[in-house]
Amino acid sequence: MKYCGLVLLFALGMGVSSAQVSYYNDLRPVVERSCQGCHQPAGKMGGLDLTSYEAITAGGNKGPSFVAGAAEESRLVTLLTGAGEPRMPFGQDPLADSEIDLFRRWVSEGAKDDTPESARGPQVPSEPPTYDQPPVLTAAAFSPDGKLLAVGGYREILLHKADGSKIETRLLGRSDRIHSVAFTPDGTKLVAVGGTPGRFGEVQVWDLASKTQLHSVMATADTLFGGALSPDGTHVVVGGADNRVRVIEIATGKELFKAGHHEDWVLDAIFGIDGKRVVTVGRDRAAKLADAQTGAFLENVNFLRDELYVIARHPRRDYVLIGGADRVPYLYMMDRPRALKIADDSTLVRKFDEQEDAIHALAFSQDGSRIAVGGIAEFVNIYDTESGERVASCKLPAGGAFVLEFPPDGRQLLAGGFDGLLRVFDVASGKQVKEFSPVPLEKGRLRSAR
Ligand code: HEC
Repeated sequence: MKYCGLVLLFALGMGVSSAQVSYYNDLRPVVERSCQGCHQPAGKMGGLDLTSYEAITAGGNKGPSFVAGAAEESRLVTLLTGAGEPRMPFGQDPLADSEIDLFRRWVSEGAKDDTPESARGPQVPSEPPTYDQPPVLTAAAFSPDGKLLAVGGYREILLHKADGSKIETRLLGRSDRIHSVAFTPDGTKLVAVGGTPGRFGEVQVWDLASKTQLHSVMATADTLFGGALSPDGTHVVVGGADNRVRVIEIATGKELFKAGHHEDWVLDAIFGIDGKRVVTVGRDRAAKLADAQTGAFLENVNFLRDELYVIARHPRRDYVLIGGADRVPYLYMMDRPRALKIADDSTLVRKFDEQEDAIHALAFSQDGSRIAVGGIAEFVNIYDTESGERVASCKLPAGGAFVLEFPPDGRQLLAGGFDGLLRVFDVASGKQVKEFSPVPLEKGRLRSAR
């Protein structure tokens, strides 16, 4: 008898717990669909962020959003039922009764957090991160009007005045690392590509006027790379550690295709001038041309030598500059006169000097007359694109550039990398003009305090 009673109790207990509303499985999908557009860290209407349990608990302008156990005293419930004003979702149709009931029951049952540990990574932080030293710099871009400079930080993008004198905005996102940032040509949106290594890859689309995230497109179990926009600003091309190439529509966040013509990690990508084709490079040593609508493989651009890490396109013609482990920047025509699937060097326009170490950053000036080459070496070299002659060398005190950008006027070059500082060089002389930290540093904390 004793045992029977225990078994009965056990069964009862299980029955009750399985009927409880789960924050993670039941509530969160509804909140993601119907609430997060207006309640996220970058755009908290009513001061309320609904993207994580912690944020929901923190509440909004009018205080906590729920009182555990007391649904009728909880704004999270009363604003859904219409008992409180204004009714949520604001200006939209009310939720279905069954969904409102989920909120009511969840609060009545104690509003417990059952977010699994494995799902806690990709949360948008509720506060800007603090830094005791700048993170390694992998992404920076000037806005088309030359007024802003976007820089990838840790779980955020910082928008600076272009001269580095002030941080205007901090856009907080899920990805630990941002590998690229790009402004749309009309300057209204910012597209960032990155992820959290070993966890997920992400494409973030931001509306700059409202400073809100329009899309967070998650893909793969590792970070995404690349991130160049089509010339009309409608699409972004990314590569990944899953050997795939993806093109994503910026307005909708929809994936146009996922192509698998690379045999190893795809580390960088660009669009051709007409936006109809993409070229991607990666560890399989190939620069591959593919259709930008379908992902269909067209041809190999280069003769295979060594792993490729970066690609840049000439701003005015379909020439691509590629670089990687063999330290030599190669300028190729994007197309072959006759499509040849076998790679050769017949379309090589020019080779530039062998650098002191592997190449991780390449840039064209906006008129195409200059290229900049950087990487592990302590010098960033600037060349005349036509003659191939070196016109300047810029010394990086701490060595290593992963980001190179010419501001619109082309007279200066911005470099960033391993030590996390941004440095501006004079293109004609190669002299450093200034340096600054792209992230606010905690005062009074020393490096050794880490
Ligand atoms: C279209 C935008 C929009 C959507 C979608 C939306 N909200 Fe709101 N929410 C608002 C605005 C605006 C306020 C501030 C209202 C006010 O105080 O007048 C607000 C306030 C709130 C508050 C009160 C915060 C406080 O402390 O003042 C809660 C709770 C809330 N919303 C919950 C939700 C939930 C739950 C959903 C999804 C079912 C949702 N909202 C969807 C715009 C929205």
